[in-house]
Order: sequence, then C-alpha cells, then structure tokens
Amino acid sequence: MMRGLHLAFVLLFTILVLYSKDCEAQCAPEDAKAWDPVRNESTYDRDPASINQPDGRPLGYQLDTLDYINDANARSPCVTVTGCINYVDIMVETDPLARICIEDITTDAATRELICQERISSCVPCPSEEVTYQFSCQGSSCDQSAVNFWFRFVLSDPAVLDPELWCFNRNTDEYPSSLYNNVPVPVTRAKTMPTGRGTSLGATFSLTLCAFLTVIFIARQ
Ligand SMILES: *[C@@H]1O[C@H](CO)[C@@H](O)[C@H](O)[C@H]1NC(C)=O
Repeated sequence: MMRGLHLAFVLLFTILVLYSKDCEAQCAPEDAKAWDPVRNESTYDRDPASINQPDGRPLGYQLDTLDYINDANARSPCVTVTGCINYVDIMVETDPLARICIEDITTDAATRELICQERISSCVPCPSEEVTYQFSCQGSSCDQSAVNFWFRFVLSDPAVLDPELWCFNRNTDEYPSSLYNNVPVPVTRAKTMPTGRGTSLGATFSLTLCAFLTVIFIARQ
C-alpha cells in the first residue's frame, strides 16, 4: 500500500517535470500575428502622438497586450517573423513598466532561450527563416492589470558582412517612450541572460490541473 502511494508520487512528480513546459498556455502557430516591418528605418514615425493612435507605429514598433493574469480568456500573444536570414534585432518595451519575457517557440525546447527584462534589447543570429516569438509576463509582473507592450524586429540585410558589428551599431535607446523626451535617456543594452521561468499563481494552477488530468488519463488506461 505504502509502496503504491510512493510510486504514485514519483509518477506524479515525473509527469509534472515532463509536462511543465507543454502544459503552459502556448499559442498555436495559426494564432500568431505576422510581424509587419517598416522596412525603411528612415521613415519611422517619430511623432510621440503615434503612441496613442490606434494603428500608430512609433519608431516602427507594433502594439499588443498581455492580458491581466486572472482574465479567463487570457491569451499568449505570439508574433511570427519571416525572412530571418542573418541577424535579428529584437526590442520590446512595456506600458506600464513590467518584466516581460520573449521566447522563440520555433526552436527546440531544449535549446531555446527565454529572455525576461523590463526593456528587451537583444541582437542575435536568426534561429530560422520563420520564427515565432511568444510573449509572457515574468512572475507576478502582470498580476495587477493588463500590460501593453511595444515590440520591434529589425532584420539585418543578408549582404551585411559583419552582422555583429551591425548589432553593435544598432541604436539601443530607441524605445517608443524615448519619443517623449527631447533628449533620449541613455539606456545601456540589457544583458540577455536566459532567465528561469517565473511561476505565477495561474501557471501553478494550470500545471497542477495538467498533472491531475494526466494522472486520471493514465489511471483510466
Ligand atoms: C528611405 O526613405 C528616405 C526618406 O523618405 C529616402 O530618402 C530613401 O531613399 C529611402 N531608402 C530606401 C532604401 O528606399
């Protein structure tokens, strides 16, 4: 009897570990919106008013929202970038300021990187020609309200000979909020260390539910 109980716990734990990634709300590839680039960067809208216009593209950024964590219909926003051949410069800023995470869900789960920052600035080699990025809140960052976020992907020209130099020369201060200031506040490029996934109450709940359903499913076999 004790042995059976012990086995059940080991099984439950194993399932929890195995499923912790897949069971989290992940966007379906068909739900991902397409990144719509402003190809000529010298035509970026630099008018701060663009931040409040419905289809505004301040500095080429696009807007989306991370739903309030207790919203029953909370989605996982996803964006697909196509034509990624060389390097991609990823920049994200939230409003209100919150720790946001971006994860390339196209790459194999074992090697993909999760970046969580208050402002994301990451210039990296393209993981694949078509990449889908999923956005999420880190930990309890979105526990108070929904959080708007601006995102931008700039692809380096495949003809660029030194893409690392191209990355180095990117303006890392160009967030939508910088349009409010006459003198841009210098922002040093944030370190893009992969961070552990924070567990919010919602995530813990879905995880537990997931493991529970799996146990029932196995028990019924
Ligand atoms: C980008 O836009 C600027 C300003 O409209 C224009 O002068 C320039 O020729 C454009 N560059 C390209 C590559 O189209």
